[in-house]
Amino acid sequence: MPDAALAALMCPHCAGTFPARAVDGALRCSEGHAFDAARQGYINLLTGHGTRFSQDTAAMIAARADFLAAGHYSPLADAVVSAAVDAVKNASAEPVILDAGTGTGYYLRQVLAAHPAQAIALDISKFALRRAARTNPGALNLAWNLWDPLPVAAKSVDVILNIFSPRNPPEFARVLKPGGRLLVVTPDRGHLAEIAEAAGLLGIEEDKQRHLAEALQDAFEAGPDRRISLSLSLSRTDVANAALMGPAGHHLDPAALREKLAAAPDPWPVAARFRLQEFTRRR
Ligand SMILES: C[S@@+](CC[C@H](N)C(=O)[O-])C[C@H]1O[C@@H](n2cnc3c(N)ncnc32)[C@H](O)[C@@H]1O
Ligand SMILES: [Zn+2]
Repeated sequence: MPDAALAALMCPHCAGTFPARAVDGALRCSEGHAFDAARQGYINLLTGHGTRFSQDTAAMIAARADFLAAGHYSPLADAVVSAAVDAVKNASAEPVILDAGTGTGYYLRQVLAAHPAQAIALDISKFALRRAARTNPGALNLAWNLWDPLPVAAKSVDVILNIFSPRNPPEFARVLKPGGRLLVVTPDRGHLAEIAEAAGLLGIEEDKQRHLAEALQDAFEAGPDRRISLSLSLSRTDVANAALMGPAGHHLDPAALREKLAAAPDPWPVAARFRLQEFTRRR
């Protein structure tokens, strides 16, 4: 059976194709550029300069994995799954999903469990990719910087998942098949507002949302735009994980955080607010 995900991959050096995957998992393009598989199952396609980014640390990824495993965001995952399945159910026999900023692979796993598909999962954090490769061993989990041109062929992808991750509209437009779907999840106004201060969360940038719609309007038809609001009851551990898994995790000291949260309500009633936007690539 042709490997649709592999066929969608494009060599970042020469735009060549990858005919097959070696037994040890390595990738070698038609021109001979080789990318080894890490022992943990992901493949680093980054070429030198991409590695300068400050990536999510192992502790941040562990906090995210624990928070998600507690199931707080499972209604969001259900909404993503139903939008993704809706997008691929009439697509090609072997749809290709691109998860742009896969993190621990939590959402992609649920999409793949709901509908047979092949997947390419990109992230810049090798700690995230270690988890993602364990969570979704059948996907091509690749270290890549989403701000760079994607190592993906034009018109080769049926669905892009872009969940709380950087967006690259021109590249998303290039790699999607005509009629393909882009699903974008962003935090909405008031997301985790109750714990924002305690957890050192950053504010939501309203402008970014507007810029997204503007950046997408030429190549995409805007579809449903859903607001999802969840009433959570977070333990102190959950609140600490919410803090450590976000950007604040780069500089928070876990011990100091625990001390700061010692007097916090437990459980703490908190509203999680998301926006799930669907865009269809114009034909
Ligand atoms: C908030 S997490 C979301 C992960 C996952 N989609 C989820 O919702 O659980 C954002 C992810 O984007 C990744 N990321 C940040 N900047 C990136 C970049 N320039 N290129 C690729 N991935 C990036 C981070 O490593 C992190 O895993
Ligand atoms: Zn090449």
